[in-house]
Amino acid sequence: MRKKVTIRDFLKKKGKEKITMLTAYDYPTSRIISETELDSILVGDSLGMVVLGYNNTQKVEMEDIIRHTSAVARANPPQLMVADMPFLSYEISVEEGIRNAGLLIKAGADAVKLEGGVEVIDVVKGITKAGIPVMGHIGMTPQKYLKLGGFRVVGKSEEEAELLVEDAKALEKAGAFAVVIENTYADIAEKITKTLNIPTICIGAGPSCDGQVLVIHDLLGFSEIKPYFAKNYINLNEIIKNAVSQYNNDVKSGTFPSKENYKDRAN
Ligand code: KIV
Repeated sequence: MRKKVTIRDFLKKKGKEKITMLTAYDYPTSRIISETELDSILVGDSLGMVVLGYNNTQKVEMEDIIRHTSAVARANPPQLMVADMPFLSYEISVEEGIRNAGLLIKAGADAVKLEGGVEVIDVVKGITKAGIPVMGHIGMTPQKYLKLGGFRVVGKSEEEAELLVEDAKALEKAGAFAVVIENTYADIAEKITKTLNIPTICIGAGPSCDGQVLVIHDLLGFSEIKPYFAKNYINLNEIIKNAVSQYNNDVKSGTFPSKENYKDRAN
């Protein structure tokens, strides 16, 4: 069994070794990931879209993340396990944010992630002060897609680019141990990575970050739409469709179940 990856290991990798992270939402996926060298698992609120079938992440509740965090934790992954704080679980008050972060730790997470920059600094400080490691998330923050005007690349204007750098610096100062940078221009992510002492983890932000995260359904070809920044390593949609069609044909034709699939009292 591999040694558990800790926050300190994460910090030590900055500038030395790329950090790898994938989402997982259930026990079987976590069990398989446990047998790999991957550094980190994110129980992302993307589960609302890729598992629960919502068209955005705003509908995800604390109960959803708690249930899926517990399932992932049951496989005892050696990876650093980060659980996402869902929409409105940390915006209303610092107290509520700390309480909700605590519930995710009790469900088995090693750290929490929340979206936002300067506007979430107080809650990042509060959660960190309670002894819970916080990962920031800036750039295209899906929980705020309405305010952003859709799921779009962030940072085109000089002003927006500068705000991203300020957000990242504020998160580091508030105690975050890493920052996810989503769907922004590569030069902005590079500037942030060079400015911060904590690791940056990219998704759709180019090659210069300290690490990379992807939604596992995108990697497996198991999602409805592949974002431009993702890469399919297999096409699970096709594999599942073929397996289901073969099963359907086998049952209809009487090929399944066959002798090895049932017990006969006569033999
Ligand atoms: O919920 C999620 O999967 C995420 C990643 C895209 C970073 O936040």
